[in-house]
Amino acid sequence: MQDNNGAHTEEASTRRRFFARLFWSAMGLVGLGIGVPVIGYFLSPVFRRQRKSEVDLGEVGSLALETPQRVEFAIRQRDGWITRTARAIAWVVRRKDQVVVFDPHCTHLGCPYHWDKQSGRFFCPCHGGVFDVEGCVLAGPPPRPLDVYPSTVRNGRLYVTLSPLRQTEAEVRRCVQRRAPQA
Ligand code: FES
Repeated sequence: MQDNNGAHTEEASTRRRFFARLFWSAMGLVGLGIGVPVIGYFLSPVFRRQRKSEVDLGEVGSLALETPQRVEFAIRQRDGWITRTARAIAWVVRRKDQVVVFDPHCTHLGCPYHWDKQSGRFFCPCHGGVFDVEGCVLAGPPPRPLDVYPSTVRNGRLYVTLSPLRQTEAEVRRCVQRRAPQA
């Protein structure tokens, strides 16, 4: 009789342990199912690389030919969990066969420069840097021509990618040759 009771107690205890394990395993799975996406959501901005997106600078036909235009536009900046809109500018030179978009920062120490209509040159007020309409250095301390933004024209609209590039070696050489005194 006692043996029978003992066997029942043992069986009940084994069953309880089994259900307890089953319960905690199920809770663990539910926890993982909820926890992983939630943690991923909160951490993703930290690891997400800023996408290099194009910015629409408007109709190319509205830009005057051969005269640098200061184009202002809005960009969305993402900082972790916060996205804000900021104003940015670029200098755009439209020629018959191409459009060049210059980064608006001087290649010396990054000051904003401007186009001086009278002299037909870009002028940086910080240390007197001077660039021609093609971005070549004419005077002052800037060590290289103006940087450019990659750009493309689609359906009559100008798009830029805001990752400034140094001008190519060939372009820099052309600038240097232009500066060399004529014999
Ligand atoms: S920052 Fe432009 S000349 Fe120094």
